[in-house]
Amino acid sequence: MKNSSNISLALWVVITIIFFFSKSHQQIFPPLPIPNPRLIKACIALQAWKLAMTSDPNKFTANWNGPDVCNYTGVYCAAAPDDPLKLTVAGIDLNHANIAGFLPEELGLLKDLALFHLNSNRFYGTIPASVIHLHLLYELDVSNNQFSGPFPCVVFDLPSLKYLDIRFNEFHGDIPKEVFELELDALFLNDNKFDSPLPENLGNSPVSVFVIANNNAGGSIPPSLAKMAGTLEEIVLSNLGLTGCLRQDIGTLKGLKVLDVSFNKLCGPLPESMGELRNLEQLSVAHNKLSGQVPESICSLPNLDNFTYSFNYFSSESSACLRLPAKDDSRNCIPGRPLQRSPEECRYFYTHQSNCGANTCSRS
Ligand SMILES: *[C@@H]1O[C@H](CO)[C@@H](O)[C@H](O)[C@H]1NC(C)=O
Ligand SMILES: *[C@@H]1O[C@H](CO)[C@@H](O)[C@H](O)[C@H]1NC(C)=O
Repeated sequence: MKNSSNISLALWVVITIIFFFSKSHQQIFPPLPIPNPRLIKACIALQAWKLAMTSDPNKFTANWNGPDVCNYTGVYCAAAPDDPLKLTVAGIDLNHANIAGFLPEELGLLKDLALFHLNSNRFYGTIPASVIHLHLLYELDVSNNQFSGPFPCVVFDLPSLKYLDIRFNEFHGDIPKEVFELELDALFLNDNKFDSPLPENLGNSPVSVFVIANNNAGGSIPPSLAKMAGTLEEIVLSNLGLTGCLRQDIGTLKGLKVLDVSFNKLCGPLPESMGELRNLEQLSVAHNKLSGQVPESICSLPNLDNFTYSFNYFSSESSACLRLPAKDDSRNCIPGRPLQRSPEECRYFYTHQSNCGANTCSRS
């Protein structure tokens, strides 16, 4: 610790000297900035980061020079929570900067950082282990970059984290069960290359929004999902290779507004209990192997704006379904409706469906 602060101090001196020399043609005696140690460390971190950037086509970091880090584009300072008289770097927002590069370990020096938003850049590599020092970090958004490697487990040790968004990257491997024990409000893992089933403890997560579409999870929807009844408002599980059925107890998720399980291999009927999801606005079960009747209870939901159930094998639908503002019932087996599957295809499905036993699907 002693050593690293000596090194920090030496770097500070060097940066300050370079800054003064670069300005010396304008001013012989430049005013000496007050060296708040937190901003000194932030300067070291941001200069190391600038060096780790390989391309900045929009010149976003062009003014990342000198010790006045609070004036850098995308860097936001605020009074330190534990010392209101000291300014400190509280937020970094480089959203849509299109910068390429990696995240250096020095970012761990930004100990007062609460918001770290990097969406839509070309950062690659991993999230550095030193991020563990950012114990005030509340929102971490590294979405739409080129990060890779396993799930960034360093986030499990961030006690203040509420918002975690790592979607649209190249993370791969297991979806660790620890992520569902975090006290998060929102969790976005979609559009990566995760390839393990959804962990059984999924339902321990207190999130209101959970999106994990477009990964190679496989497996079925963990029964613990029903435990999220108190908090969950939006869940998107599309295109995960999910098998199995929708359980009756999905009807306990009373706060749900958005439910999307489209583009999977789910089978069996739509549970009647889904008619208890009184807040549901958007429902998509399209592109599965669901069958039987589309329950009237669902189509009569008072807030349902859009119900998409195309590309399944439903054999009938309530007339209430036809009155929905936006719905898609095409490519099913519903007699008398346009754009259905052929009678041969439907007959084949209904004589060969054996993989979604009524026992596993109707039990709650
Ligand atoms: C901060 O930036 C503004 C404009 O971007 C500039 O006018 C001002 O001189 C800068 N302040 C310092 C102390 O560098
Ligand atoms: C309804 O939802 C589907 C799938 O989620 C979407 O593709 C479609 O555009 C939506 N329709 C309307 C009218 O919002």
